[in-house]
Amino acid sequence: MKKVNNIAVLTSGGDAPGMNAAIRAVVRAGIYHHLNVYGVMYGYKGMLTNDIFPMESKTVANIIQRGGTILKTARCKEFYEPEGRKKAYENLKKLDIDGLVVIGGDGSFKGAQKFSEEFDIPCIGLPGTIDKDIAGTDFTIGFDTAVNTAVDAIDKIRDTADAHDRLFIIEVMGRDAGYIALHSGIATGAEHVLMPERKSEIDDIINELQANERRKKLVNLIVVAEGDEFGGANGVVKHIKERLPQLDTRVCILGHIQRGGTPTCMDRIIASRLGYAAVEALLDGTHNVMVGVVNDKIAYTPLTQAVKAKQSIDEEWFKIIKILAS
Ligand code: F6P
Repeated sequence: MKKVNNIAVLTSGGDAPGMNAAIRAVVRAGIYHHLNVYGVMYGYKGMLTNDIFPMESKTVANIIQRGGTILKTARCKEFYEPEGRKKAYENLKKLDIDGLVVIGGDGSFKGAQKFSEEFDIPCIGLPGTIDKDIAGTDFTIGFDTAVNTAVDAIDKIRDTADAHDRLFIIEVMGRDAGYIALHSGIATGAEHVLMPERKSEIDDIINELQANERRKKLVNLIVVAEGDEFGGANGVVKHIKERLPQLDTRVCILGHIQRGGTPTCMDRIIASRLGYAAVEALLDGTHNVMVGVVNDKIAYTPLTQAVKAKQSIDEEWFKIIKILAS
């Protein structure tokens, strides 16, 4: 017997490329299993304001390749209060919704977890964030696209850095995580990568820049995660300008371009697999979990454990950066 009949899907928190592909997968897999699928606009806010509408197969046509989210997104403070969640529940119940798929980051999962503890609507979380900072999955929807966007931008910066013999300090997103910095830094041959997971020795960086200057290696790229200990690229540049005023140094903060654009093939595939698996989980009665990918297999993590992952980064990554940039 089917355990659910009417499901809803929403996107919450910061948008990430591939969210549309995930929505499409949830809708089409749901319809395949003869479920009624509803879309909730603006994340949890739409549950409170009753901004919920029935979705059909054609509602999600022509979106797999689009960035952003057709369901829009928001960060909703009211949902973190019991009264807000009660209002949201009442609106879902009016439509007999008996399953909810939340595409977002760990903040969104905390909301889903509280909601599922209080009310009889099972929730499934899908990791949708460019930051890749969620435990229980090797990848998050949007990370690959964000890294490729950063790589594309840094390659362009290298051209102009090379023309002028400049040092560029490039800041990438990631909130408290440094994965975008680490991956884009390695892929662009950066001399240094600074990230919150690892203490950076500014003296060592200065010494190496001086050594590079002596041997006429004047083009240097430093990729900095926004959450690093110096407070991003503007913090790092202060130290460098103070000690090496003779270097021609520029800062570039990539910002929100990392959140937009056409999702890569990898993000579309992850999103499609996860969206499909979310519906299967609801049908199987697997509730209140986040669906992720671990070692290329679908993996379920209780929402209580699908939190921000603070991982230690293997020193080997930094050895690779140092040796290959020398
Ligand atoms: O979590 C995604 C993210 O883009 C982070 O990398 C960044 O710190 C933050 O969101 C920016 O948030 P906002 O869009 O609210 O400026």
